[in-house]
Amino acid sequence: MTVENENDLAKLLRIGKICALALQHMLERIEPGMTTAQLDAIGAAFLKQHGARSAPILAYRFPGHICISLNHEAAHGIPGSRRIQPGDLINVDVSAELEGYWADTGASAIVPPSRPEYEALCQAAREARSAGINAAYAGRPLNAIGRAVEAVAKRTGYQIIRDLGGHGVGRHIHEKPNVPNHYDRSRREKLTEGLVITIEPFLTTGRGQILTARDNWTLKTADKMPVAQYEHTIVINGSCPIIVTAP
Ligand code: CO
Ligand code: CO
Repeated sequence: MTVENENDLAKLLRIGKICALALQHMLERIEPGMTTAQLDAIGAAFLKQHGARSAPILAYRFPGHICISLNHEAAHGIPGSRRIQPGDLINVDVSAELEGYWADTGASAIVPPSRPEYEALCQAAREARSAGINAAYAGRPLNAIGRAVEAVAKRTGYQIIRDLGGHGVGRHIHEKPNVPNHYDRSRREKLTEGLVITIEPFLTTGRGQILTARDNWTLKTADKMPVAQYEHTIVINGSCPIIVTAP
């Protein structure tokens, strides 16, 4: 969507904050031995308490409120009876709707004990998201985002999962345009004032190919290498974008 007035912005910021706080709330409560369904229930209760509805359920009838992906799973992991293990790399992706406005945010975290190789991957993915956000302002080509994200991946030695990227959001969970995490010279359209998009690079230590699991939802790396993702919803403007999903 494009933010057209104060009401649009206020409502978007409202659901953005709920998503951000839900994510923070869930990350703080992760404990080894807990099932991903238990973690999902914590997120579901938080959304409900704030009057928000799970976007994956509302839009896609996803079998869970929150996408929870472990280790070599990149996205759309289904919460269930699996137990979170010490040393897991866990990704929590929260998207939700309130009063017709939708926001989307995600983060990866390491379940203690931490591993230096996961820390470095997470750090690079966070940097890639920041670089993408800093490159996104009105009048610049959309592909400036992918160019900035790709530069961080190259410098830090990780691969981008090219099949996954950001997207328009705001009046639905997935809107146009899609926002590649690599430089695509064919994407010459310019970013415009008020445009609402997500920036969400997926970085991996492997080759970056993904497959859909047998559950028909989970996206995982073909080479079983770990993935980190960080996501914010932002509003494009003339300078630094507004981060909708800041906690
Ligand atoms: Co998301
Ligand atoms: Co998204």
